[in-house]
Amino acid sequence: VFEVKIASTGKTYQIPGDKSVSAALEEKGVKIPTSCEQGACGTCKVKVLEGEVDHRDKRLTAAQRDEGWMLACVSRGKGDLLVLDM
Ligand code: FES
Repeated sequence: VFEVKIASTGKTYQIPGDKSVSAALEEKGVKIPTSCEQGACGTCKVKVLEGEVDHRDKRLTAAQRDEGWMLACVSRGKGDLLVLDM
């Protein structure tokens, strides 16, 4: 379990181990557009302002990861908190 904070609202949400960031947020009414849900298409790309990402996608380049992008349908937080720029 880790938490995701939405920068624009300041709200935090728990992401359980058996749910993706995009799925867990959608249940709470926070919509990140998704398509493949397998880390391949890039539709669910979000920018991370704080926190370390456990990248599990097959799409982002090293440069994109360095810039803070993550794919919310598969990738997760390594620590306790990710702050998303949305
Ligand atoms: Fe396709 Fe996340 S929905 S990479």
